[in-house]
Amino acid sequence: MTIRPILTAPDPRLREVSKPVDKVDDGLRALMDDMLETMYDAPGIGLAAIQVGVPLRVIVMDLAKEDEEPAPRYFVNPEILDPSEELAVYEEGCLSVPEFFDEVERPARCRVRYLDYNGDEQVLDAEGLLATCIQHEMDHLEGVLFIDHLSRLKRERVLKKLKKEQRLAAAE
Ligand code: NI
Repeated sequence: MTIRPILTAPDPRLREVSKPVDKVDDGLRALMDDMLETMYDAPGIGLAAIQVGVPLRVIVMDLAKEDEEPAPRYFVNPEILDPSEELAVYEEGCLSVPEFFDEVERPARCRVRYLDYNGDEQVLDAEGLLATCIQHEMDHLEGVLFIDHLSRLKRERVLKKLKKEQRLAAAE
């Protein structure tokens, strides 16, 4: 397993729409293993393949708390079914938008259909943090970042700050 570099906004690759996976094979499992290790190392609770520059519809996630056993989840070609009308607000962050957090409102519950690590079809009823995290990661597959759900003023402010930091890092 290899830790891969994580793209950060405003990298244009984060705006790509990811393509469906044809087949869950060993090559794809190697990508998912790398993504999980990259996410744990960051550390974060969810990662989409495009965040490591691979435009495929693949997500990894682990919502286990620090004192719990790791509980990795893998979602290939996920689809959201029946999002609830009821909304929930969570403070979100993103490994591609480092050191910035803000509240986002999304459907409180949803059903997700996807292929798992072995390529078997699964259906999951998600609520709470799991529902929010899945919807956040699914946005990445469409080239959408959580800051797109905020006001333009907030989004421009954070992108300007990130650009400046990247300029300074490149100059070092
Ligand atoms: Ni994210």
